[in-house]
Amino acid sequence: MSNMKTNMNNLEDILTSLNSKKLRVCVIGIGRIGLPTALSFAKSGLDTIGVDINENLVQNINCGNFPLKDEPGYQKIFDDVIKNKKFSATTNIEDAVPNSDLILLSLPTPMDENNIPDYSALRTVASKLSDILSPNSLVIVESTIEPGFIEDEMISIITKSERLTVKENFFIGVCPENANPGEILHDFTNLPRLVGSITPNITKIIKSIYNFVFSVELIEMPNCKTANAVKLTTNVFRDINIAFVSELSLMFEKLGIDTNQVLEAAKKKYNFQVHYPGAGVGGPCLPINSYQLLNTARRTGVKLDIIESGRKINEKMPDHVIDLTIDAFKESGTSLEGSNILILGISYKPDVKDVQLTPAEHIIKKLKNLGVNVHIYDPYFSSTKKFDIKISESFSLELLEKMNATIIVTAHEEFTKINISKFSKMKTPILIDTRGIVDPVDAQNSQLIFRGLGRG
Ligand SMILES: NC(=O)c1ccc[n+]([C@@H]2O[C@H](COP(=O)([O-])OP(=O)(O)OC[C@H]3O[C@@H](n4cnc5c(N)ncnc54)[C@H](O)[C@@H]3O)[C@@H](O)[C@H]2O)c1
Repeated sequence: MSNMKTNMNNLEDILTSLNSKKLRVCVIGIGRIGLPTALSFAKSGLDTIGVDINENLVQNINCGNFPLKDEPGYQKIFDDVIKNKKFSATTNIEDAVPNSDLILLSLPTPMDENNIPDYSALRTVASKLSDILSPNSLVIVESTIEPGFIEDEMISIITKSERLTVKENFFIGVCPENANPGEILHDFTNLPRLVGSITPNITKIIKSIYNFVFSVELIEMPNCKTANAVKLTTNVFRDINIAFVSELSLMFEKLGIDTNQVLEAAKKKYNFQVHYPGAGVGGPCLPINSYQLLNTARRTGVKLDIIESGRKINEKMPDHVIDLTIDAFKESGTSLEGSNILILGISYKPDVKDVQLTPAEHIIKKLKNLGVNVHIYDPYFSSTKKFDIKISESFSLELLEKMNATIIVTAHEEFTKINISKFSKMKTPILIDTRGIVDPVDAQNSQLIFRGLGRG
């Protein structure tokens, strides 16, 4: 790495550094979002270092093992930037930060068991930065945070040592990440990004840097808090709309109306944006983002009733899956207690290897409490252990023949291709589809005892 420091408040200086590939980049937090981000900067020719507290991850990366196998397109980029030494990883933040001009924070922002957002990783790193950040560096927070977090907390933590003064020799902005796991390369190169910062000049600078690396539309926001408000609004919109169709689907079931048919027709109307009901909403984003806005509301003495109700509905959907299962067992005349049930899919969404806040966990727990022997097949976790259960190696007839029921929890592509008649090989042919991927007519033709969530 070159030792020349770029003044991160000077656009000309930065453009020269970008074009001569002298700008030094440090990404702190190289997980699902941070690693692809770091690889993008390295691919554009900039020396990039990734910092993480996970020693195993750092070691694996430096040994050339790419950890995100479910992210199409990145394996080759990873191999190339490791080979040409544009990217490496470290656990040593003290070494990495002072030698960098641009610091990106892609740290986790989870929530605790009481659904209170947990910003401890950002606070810890901010505190460290106050001691080690070089003057005239630029910090960009990509993590999802509540509006006001930069203005009300981050800046004062980073400037607490009084070595650094915001807008004078320390600059900060946000560029909230909005990529979807499993599609990150596509999203990084297609989705518009939001940019907000402490001054119009820094916003322009961040735009130029991201333009250099990603060439997507960059939407200028008046400040950090507005950018973060947009990010949360778009995700919480989805959480609420999923709750809306999920709640409706419970009524449609009783009315003998197929929610899938309602939605297929409804989406023909130009201003209807379709969302689908299901077993619940998990993942590292939507549930947390709703609780982040609810936390902001609490701080500001406001009540956000719709978000609160939406969360309650989405969190109750796993219970409905259990109700459908109990109902199907009643029809079969067999006992749920002591039965063997196969869960198809534990990821929180299709075709990713990720079980964070997955509704599958609730369903499995409830089934176990009812005395069910739970089995799992998920192609992304085959032969591993999750929720104390050894995941089957494959989806075979041999496995099905031992089951009394199957519950489809995640619509992995592999499951959409299963010939439905296979399920009639189970000891009792009970099939519960929580994702609307089975045609009820096919289920009927195969003499299955079928329950489709929201299918009437
Ligand atoms: N995953 C998504 O779908 C997604 C999409 C958009 C935005 N985001 C947001 O991006 C941010 C990062 O999410 P992610 O999914 O990449 O998380 P992740 O858990 O996959 O990665 C975070 C990484 O940070 C590391 N880390 C934790 N504490 C650290 C510390 N003190 N110092 C250095 N490293 C530390 C962890 O070891 C981990 O490797 C979050 O704010 C999230 O809300 C995530």
